[in-house]
Amino acid sequence: MNRNKILLFSLLPGLVLALPNLEDGKLLYEESCLNCHGDPYLSSGLDEMTNTTDLFYMVRACAKHFRLNWNQQDITDTTHYLNTKFFQLDK
Ligand code: HEC
Repeated sequence: MNRNKILLFSLLPGLVLALPNLEDGKLLYEESCLNCHGDPYLSSGLDEMTNTTDLFYMVRACAKHFRLNWNQQDITDTTHYLNTKFFQLDK
């Protein structure tokens, strides 16, 4: 993971959406998020997600908060995985 890329993407949030990879998203989720959020995903209920953009930002916020150093692709993959499996938002 390239630092400049991370910096660039954090300056331009969500502008460049790469094609999501469901398998990678699953692995990333299981590795870094499952402990807290469980399977099936347990929402804190504090923040209802109504669209995938919100979901993307929350995934990014959590990844950032826990200093995972995720790049845009990691976040996109995990967002896609969570949405496909649990949230099922259509926009
Ligand atoms: C150490 C525990 C912990 C880990 C690890 C963690 N989270 Fe969270 N997450 C939380 C808590 C606590 C909240 C509630 C904060 C809030 O809603 O303001 C939250 C909120 C969220 C939300 C939005 C609130 C909702 O409706 O559930 C999403 C989406 C989310 N996390 C995704 C992730 C993803 C993706 C990862 C893996 C990168 C991750 N989290 C890792 C504890 C964790």
